[in-house]
Amino acid sequence: MALWGGRFEAGVAETTQAFGASLPVDRHLYHEDIQGSKAHATMLAQQGIISHDDADAIVAGLTSIEHDIDAGAFTFDINDEDIHMAVERELIARIGEAGKRVHTGRSRNDQVVTDTRLAAKRLAASLMQATHTLRTTLHTLAQQEKDTVLPGYTHLQHAQPVLLAHHLLAYAWMFKRDFTRFYEAYQAANMSSLGAAALAGTSYPLNRRMTAYELGFADVIPNSLDAVSDRDFLLDLQYAASVCAMHLSRLCEELVIWSTSEFGFVTFSDEFSTGSSIMPQKKNPDFAELIRGKTGRVYGNLMQLLVTMKGLPLAYNKDLQEDKAGMFDSAHTVQASLELMSDMLLTCTFHADAMWAACQSGYLAATDIADYLVKRGMPFREAHAVVGQLVLVCEQRGCDFAGLALEDFRRASECFEADIVGELDIARIVAARNTEGGTAPEAVAQQMKLVRATLVEEEAILGGLS
Ligand code: ARG
Repeated sequence: MALWGGRFEAGVAETTQAFGASLPVDRHLYHEDIQGSKAHATMLAQQGIISHDDADAIVAGLTSIEHDIDAGAFTFDINDEDIHMAVERELIARIGEAGKRVHTGRSRNDQVVTDTRLAAKRLAASLMQATHTLRTTLHTLAQQEKDTVLPGYTHLQHAQPVLLAHHLLAYAWMFKRDFTRFYEAYQAANMSSLGAAALAGTSYPLNRRMTAYELGFADVIPNSLDAVSDRDFLLDLQYAASVCAMHLSRLCEELVIWSTSEFGFVTFSDEFSTGSSIMPQKKNPDFAELIRGKTGRVYGNLMQLLVTMKGLPLAYNKDLQEDKAGMFDSAHTVQASLELMSDMLLTCTFHADAMWAACQSGYLAATDIADYLVKRGMPFREAHAVVGQLVLVCEQRGCDFAGLALEDFRRASECFEADIVGELDIARIVAARNTEGGTAPEAVAQQMKLVRATLVEEEAILGGLS
């Protein structure tokens, strides 16, 4: 019979027991559950609700259980329903009477969400670290590739040349926002629900601040109904994980395209590629594709929790038990993806020559030729049309701007002089984009400093996490 079985004449059916059990998922919360129970028992003794001897026995008993679970020497029994029941039953088996007092003034409703909040903090902190590491990698690569130029794209068509460093740093900023979102999820989880009991608080003189402090929470949740039923912090974590997965997926998509024979901008190292079982020549970017693919699962977990929450009346409902599998799945998936991406980037080879060669076609100088005319007094809209005509001529002849003679330029407009050739130089075009946040080497060097400063800020935040 379950520990709550007093008012029942029969146990639940075997099938319903298995259906209702959350142990396969929440057994991964045993550290948090034991930590929470120790804090609760110590506080009960401090408040004179149980004896110090009982609290000492409870703490020692919990330590020995934790030790056995750590060592893999503990057999979980699905009949225990969840981690809270499994640990409590074992505690009673090990220390007897005192173990029966650990649940005084507490409900599984405040217990489970306390455990979940502790886990969410741990997972968010680790995602922050992984995001930070990836950003450090991107910063290092940007430094290495500070002179590499590739075509910049809009609509996946050649647009204007950009520095590879600039392109990589765009991702460093995306992951900076992800770091912030994970930190916000961490802070949302950082409130204690312990002491809310089943839903209404309790008549025992608990000291909620003491357990909150002991468990490293920043504060106590002020409303007991909210404390047991709020899962916003998990939605925050899931959303942060989803946006981060989306950024990873976009980067993967680019790397996959860049690694094609058509582009040839990047080669993955052998450790991050796979072969084909039939086509001997294949070197597939499986891991970039997999990270991209796993993004769908992460989005799914966010949706699942949103839908689970939408119709729930206050306070605890068993639906809430469905909150943890997605939390673990999304956090572990994004964590592994971030770590893999960092290693994959560090071991891939960027082909500056192929990128440079690609810059020679596709009319990347078009905007600059129009600007040349504008500087000589022509209204921009008119200049745009003149360069459009030049593109048409090139298309008809099957050449690029470099294949046109000065007379061709002058036929389109009298404003063109011999110095137009200089305007076509890709390095000059890049260097000209010197506005703040632009792609000129000088502007990118400035940007690199800003990224470096954010890395320092992040290190300070990571160092200060409770
Ligand atoms: N296993 C449950 C969960 O994860 C613990 C809380 C059970 N509370 C209850 N009133 N049945 O949500």
